[in-house]
Amino acid sequence: MTTSDTNLDALVAAVLGSSKYRAVSPDLVRAVGARELAARPTLKAAIKATKNTLHQAGGAFTDAPIDYGRALAELRAAAADGDELFRAAARAVMARHTSTRERLPTLDEFYAATLAALPPPGRVLDVACGLNPLAWPWLPLRPTTELIAYDIYADQIAFLNDFFALAGVAGRAEVRDVVGHPPDEPADLALVLKTLPCLEAIDRRAPERLLDAIQAPRLLVSFPAQSLGGRRKGMAAHYEAHFRRLLDARGWPAQRFVFDTELAFLVQKG
Ligand SMILES: C[S@@+](CC[C@H](N)C(=O)[O-])C[C@H]1O[C@@H](n2cnc3c(N)ncnc32)[C@H](O)[C@@H]1O
Repeated sequence: MTTSDTNLDALVAAVLGSSKYRAVSPDLVRAVGARELAARPTLKAAIKATKNTLHQAGGAFTDAPIDYGRALAELRAAAADGDELFRAAARAVMARHTSTRERLPTLDEFYAATLAALPPPGRVLDVACGLNPLAWPWLPLRPTTELIAYDIYADQIAFLNDFFALAGVAGRAEVRDVVGHPPDEPADLALVLKTLPCLEAIDRRAPERLLDAIQAPRLLVSFPAQSLGGRRKGMAAHYEAHFRRLLDARGWPAQRFVFDTELAFLVQKG
């Protein structure tokens, strides 16, 4: 075993040993850690830089650790009390993820508007999903539609699989680093919501590689239009300009939708 292998193993163990990152995909920690070890003077500096990247990619989106056991119990109790209370409980749980929470004020219109003109999809991917799969009751899809969701946190993914079983969603959630391992399952539609800037923090070329790799003829891609804490004013225009260059280079047409907290594009790939 070389020194760099030993250092990488030590880095992965140190990052996964911290309570904030213990559930993160080890694949992602290893990939980010290898790059940081090559770029930083010491193991300590590489561990710090790896945690910083993981924070930007995902850690920044929870104000406090989510108690998934409690969230599931709340959803189970509400499921017995009918559709309206189940939706209210799903909203309350989505509010615990900063990014998913930002969509709650527009949830009633977001999917109804963006997906209105689509033929009913058989399979939908939710890429870097956060807690968005809990929006299932708002998705204008057939009950038989298969939903496959990916994110980097093992505890969140286990919870989403329990939610799918409870809500009768066909499909599954999976721990996957979509930068190193873009989804390879064919689908009719892929949701890539407010995720490209996070993936860019891991690898500058990740957004275009991911969009090229996804095997779906339609992509619903969005960007935050409101900052976390109001700090990223004007960022939506920057994201849009950048994204339009990517679309133009591929000749992919897109329909644009503006919401208070989100700018979305329904893209026709190829
Ligand atoms: C801004 S949030 C968006 C969440 C969700 N798509 C939504 O709009 O509600 C970004 C999400 O990307 C996930 N993420 C970051 N890096 C990832 C990676 N390499 N692979 C898969 N998911 C990732 C984070 O954990 C987080 O849930």
